[in-house]
Amino acid sequence: MGFIESVVNECVSTISKPSNEIVLCDLFSGSGRVANHFKNRFKIVANDLEFYSYATLENLLNNDASTVYECQPILDYMNHCMNGVEGFIFQNYSESAGRTYFTNYNAKLIDAGIALVYGMYGRGELTEQQFYYCLCSVLEGADKVSNTTGLYTAYLKKFKASSLNPIHFKAFDLKEAVASNDVYMGDATDLITHVSGDILYLDPPYNQRQYSGDYHLLNTIALNDKPEIAGITGKRVGRVGSPWSSKKLVKDEFRKLVELANFEFLVMSYSSESLMPPALIADIMSANGKYSVHEMEHKRFSSIKGQKNPFGGETVTEFLHVLHKER
Ligand SMILES: C[S@@+](CC[C@H](N)C(=O)[O-])C[C@H]1O[C@@H](n2cnc3c(N)ncnc32)[C@H](O)[C@@H]1O
Repeated sequence: MGFIESVVNECVSTISKPSNEIVLCDLFSGSGRVANHFKNRFKIVANDLEFYSYATLENLLNNDASTVYECQPILDYMNHCMNGVEGFIFQNYSESAGRTYFTNYNAKLIDAGIALVYGMYGRGELTEQQFYYCLCSVLEGADKVSNTTGLYTAYLKKFKASSLNPIHFKAFDLKEAVASNDVYMGDATDLITHVSGDILYLDPPYNQRQYSGDYHLLNTIALNDKPEIAGITGKRVGRVGSPWSSKKLVKDEFRKLVELANFEFLVMSYSSESLMPPALIADIMSANGKYSVHEMEHKRFSSIKGQKNPFGGETVTEFLHVLHKER
């Protein structure tokens, strides 16, 4: 975040507007970490293709201390009084189901949490914002006790220590926002013609893994849609693929996005091991304004501790490609 912040600050220093009137759009927002970091300085527009991310963004960006206060009794009930239910998660993703993503105990409480939150919302007992707050507490609690290495493309056969902990439905510590934020769930290139602002932050997928597969179970928990599933890992059938994870499609998608973007600055995170080489990004950005690049070495992400790295070396070069767009 420090690296991103220093580059964003450089851009902001040339914008003559009060900080809370500056619009920063986080177009591939994922966990919402970047959007959340800046929400106490700028108006935020955040987007992602996946529903679990959309729910997270609604909670992080559009909830405040009053929602935290209002929902605390519900979380207390979930943590101390709620009985487990043998629902879709228990039936498909528990030890009993033969897919050891969750212990039987935690799977039943996840089902009970989903049923409670959706039930209350359906009966009009929760506002939309309270719904996202409580739903995210279920999502986050489930993620903390999942028996995976971080991605839901596989489960571990033997329960790891953290997955044996009883699930906890936690409260969120929400920062104050300086403006009313906008949250979307859509394809980046479709959305780009509908939004505008000062800084467009881009952190697209960087390899050929699809997020809809890697996090299928978070979508299933968040959507409560009991989908058709298939295979050993029980992935959702009919998942949406992203062109940003396709070696063939990514270049045209990127070019289109850069050309269409109605923002003064584009700042893109992309590593040395991503699908498009730095020279291609430089070419495409330079054709649309003044281009510069910043770089830092970063510890390489591995979902398995101590796993040997196929690329060799412990670090990866993280680039921040910056375009000052001529509009
Ligand atoms: C590298 S991650 C972003 C991580 C994020 N910066 C964070 O802090 O969590 C890329 C994100 O892009 C999303 N994504 C993939 N294809 C997309 C598309 N076509 N439009 C919008 N979002 C997309 C994925 O769901 C994923 O959350």
